[in-house]
Amino acid sequence: MEEKKRSSFSGKIGFVMAAAGSAVGLGNIWRFPYLTAEYGGGIFLLVYLILVVTFGFALMIAEIAIGRKTGKSAIEAFSNLNPKWGFLGKLTSAVPIIIFPYYCVIGGWVTKYITVFITGQTQAAAGSEYFSNFIGQETEPILWLALFIFATLIIVIFGVEKGVEKASKVMMPILVILSVAVASFVVFRPEAREGLRFYLMPDFSKFSSKTVLGAMGQLFYSLSLAMGIMITYGSYMRKEVHLEKSVKQIEVFDFGIAFLAGLMIIPAVFAFGSGDDLQAGAGLMFVVLPKVFANMSLGGVLGAVFFILVFFAALTSAISLMETIVSILMDRFRWKRSVSCIIVALWGILIGIPSSLGYGVWSNVQPLGFSILDFFDFISNSVLMPIVAFLTCIFVGYVIKPKAVIDEVELNGKFSRKRIFQIFIQYIAPIFIILILLSSIANSMGWWKI
Ligand code: PHE
Repeated sequence: MEEKKRSSFSGKIGFVMAAAGSAVGLGNIWRFPYLTAEYGGGIFLLVYLILVVTFGFALMIAEIAIGRKTGKSAIEAFSNLNPKWGFLGKLTSAVPIIIFPYYCVIGGWVTKYITVFITGQTQAAAGSEYFSNFIGQETEPILWLALFIFATLIIVIFGVEKGVEKASKVMMPILVILSVAVASFVVFRPEAREGLRFYLMPDFSKFSSKTVLGAMGQLFYSLSLAMGIMITYGSYMRKEVHLEKSVKQIEVFDFGIAFLAGLMIIPAVFAFGSGDDLQAGAGLMFVVLPKVFANMSLGGVLGAVFFILVFFAALTSAISLMETIVSILMDRFRWKRSVSCIIVALWGILIGIPSSLGYGVWSNVQPLGFSILDFFDFISNSVLMPIVAFLTCIFVGYVIKPKAVIDEVELNGKFSRKRIFQIFIQYIAPIFIILILLSSIANSMGWWKI
């Protein structure tokens, strides 16, 4: 039987925008700034940049090449290249399936915050209990979750070119413009000086193994690696598109937006908040920033613009998650796109509900001592992703051999960082990934603090 032709992105820009849309997400805007603050400012920024162009580069090249070579989503791509490695396809596919529901819960919070600022409730949002009261409710956060999933569904149902690509081509440029606008507004204020110095001048005395491990953990998540997304998007990439150049562009996008987010948030918090606010971790975006906005003239407008930007970032990432799962279902069960989309949406709502309730009525349900949402986050980011990344390195480095990937990249042009790719994928990355895995498990379980 002849296979139906696989959908594809229309060309280079479409591919880069969609992949960058996946990479740029909550990880860049919310997680990156607080990690940077926690791990010593400029030094973290520097280490992160080095990791992006080495580790991140090698793994992203490998995943996209695997996808394009096989024309399959993760579930079949590995077994297609080596039948004994089918298990890695299954493991990889589990990651987006776990992440999607809780990512959308947070997407729902972001959507709610747009309306909070647009309707002028800036002062209320700055109250210290506002956020925890909101997420602790039973129905409201779930309605926002459903709305966010619905928005994702509408786009993914239109398919790769007319849905995912079109939406990314519109949203990504807007996101860049809004980020530059908000960052310049903050940077040119005199109060921003101190924060800028902290952020931009690396202080080498703050360097430690912690800095590297923190940056590595952030790297996979932020570049959407080790979850089959880049394999799926690679499978939609045309053979004429230059793979290495595209990867470089995706990295510029991802690092660029993370960098701008740091510029927006770190000086603002220095100037308008207290130094301690930088340690606010995960709550930074929903708890501390509203306080910062409430203290600024034009803060309401800025808050609304900021959350719209975050919304676009989160939506394009959620789209990539849904698309990846949909493509797995379509490859595996030969289901139609629309049916697969609806099933994934229902899954998102069904499993998202406990994550949401975990902050309210179900707060006493604490698997391994985590809230339900954090538990899913822990299993996917701290356990499964490093394992998948490690096995992917072994698979490429020793099973299909780096040459298989290099040949795919060289289909149209030179692979200029071939050596870096080879050394990282075979030697350096696997060793480091094992270290992160051990440290992140130990950290989360409270066995020891790195
Ligand atoms: N890369 C995305 C970000 O930085 C995170 C993400 C994770 C996206 C999982 C899709 C899937 O937020």
